[in-house]
Amino acid sequence: MCLTWLFAFAGQAQVSYDIIPLPQHVEVAPKGEFTLVSGSVIAYPASQAGMQRNAEFLSDYVRTAIGMQLTPKGNAAKSAAITLKLGLKSENREAYELKVTKKGITIEGASEAGVFYGIQALRKVFGTEAADTLRLPYATLADAPRFPYRGVHIDCARHFFPVDFLKRYIDILALHGCNQLHWHLTDDQGWRFEVKALPDLAKKASIREETVVGRNLGIYDGQEYGRGLYYTQEQCREIVQYAAERHINVIPEIDLPGHMVAALSVMPELGCTGGPYKVWTIWGVSEDVLCAGTPKVMDFLKTVLSELADVFPSELIHIGGDESPRTRWQQCPKCQSKMKALGLKHESELQTYINKELEVFMAAKGRRLVGWDETLEGGLSENALVMSWRGIQGGIQAARLHHQVIMTPTGTCYFDYYQLKNQDAQPLGIGGYVPVSRVYEQEPVPAELTDEEKKYILGVQCNLWSEYIGSPQHMEFMLLPRLAAMSEVQWAQPQRKNLADFMKRLPRMQQLYKKLGYKACGKVE
Ligand code: ACM
Ligand code: ZN
Repeated sequence: MCLTWLFAFAGQAQVSYDIIPLPQHVEVAPKGEFTLVSGSVIAYPASQAGMQRNAEFLSDYVRTAIGMQLTPKGNAAKSAAITLKLGLKSENREAYELKVTKKGITIEGASEAGVFYGIQALRKVFGTEAADTLRLPYATLADAPRFPYRGVHIDCARHFFPVDFLKRYIDILALHGCNQLHWHLTDDQGWRFEVKALPDLAKKASIREETVVGRNLGIYDGQEYGRGLYYTQEQCREIVQYAAERHINVIPEIDLPGHMVAALSVMPELGCTGGPYKVWTIWGVSEDVLCAGTPKVMDFLKTVLSELADVFPSELIHIGGDESPRTRWQQCPKCQSKMKALGLKHESELQTYINKELEVFMAAKGRRLVGWDETLEGGLSENALVMSWRGIQGGIQAARLHHQVIMTPTGTCYFDYYQLKNQDAQPLGIGGYVPVSRVYEQEPVPAELTDEEKKYILGVQCNLWSEYIGSPQHMEFMLLPRLAAMSEVQWAQPQRKNLADFMKRLPRMQQLYKKLGYKACGKVE
């Protein structure tokens, strides 16, 4: 299915149109080539800051990968070897068309984002070998992403990842055409978002006394973790801007009402038992959650979400909702009297009550809520989105209820699971087995949905929980090259996908990772 055009001239770099994700349309002319030389101009429409930035990205990418110098210049289309422009007619605003003709290379986008994706395609075409001249066969590539939501998650609560690494992570997402970074900021083992009205929260709840070694077998490392390891609001804004320049939206997550032990450790009055609590030093699911019958809890949540909304412009705000046991609520007089007052029959409806109140509060700020699929259990608030992680059933149920859905089932999307069968060949992980091939072969839109219901599947996301991922290098190893497979799931129409063909294109992507210093897993299953 895929045309192979691998040109290896003596002293010249390899150029190939066999890229990842595979564009919807690839047409290579039987003869003719354009010669691109170092010192050429990249033209963009002057006075358009986003297009200038696009041109600068391309220039930087090419210099880094192959050492060729290209100069961005406004309104210079006549003298340019590469022209970036807007105006592509497409129903999909993220579409691009990349043409190589005798006049040069043109990338036309339906938006600045579309041009950006065309640039990501071109840098992959160029490859990694140093060159001051490139011969490119005449060709047309055209693509538009299948899904409007193309996410990657990162858990910075269990382990903290510095701002510089998050920028690098965002660069990796950009290379793969992802457009959503789901940022998990709080959990039982650490609170990492600065809340100015509650200064002790990040300052104290970011610290745990020590951390369990391996898999919760009662052995601890005796090392304090997390002092000062939280993100200031200024740093969050820096991340948001860095991502936005790369056409990536940052969705922050405050996980509630469960996964809150770190917060409870500084505000024990927000729990059903009143504590004391301490920041968790093991992994798992705690029975201690926020008390649904304590009015101060709602004040606390609104304070946190207000500040979160000030910092993060994302329309979508994630409120977690996973793994929140109802055992404390069953025994708590305050929770029980709240249930009575609201006429609720089951504790799961208490979670819905919290979510609905927050939904109204955030809707007034123009925001919509996203929750893990447990949020379906007591009835979902009206406009909320569902992230289906315990398989795809939650996603199916939500789509049938006409809620938008993001598919992220453990079996194909949990990149904290092992990617190789031989567990000795990789660092200790949480378990499971999600190899590249399984990621690639998933179909995020369940066949049992009607055509109308299928429209509610907004996209697909991979998740990187960090209980067992303590360093940037390890995080990259878990992300790559599985993200290459995910990007083709996010971009390519199902009829275009072919695992064997993808596997042939992957080594070239691995070369690019190597050139960029990304620590990918070399073995692929
Ligand atoms: C989850 O993995 N607990 C959403
Ligand atoms: Zn309670």
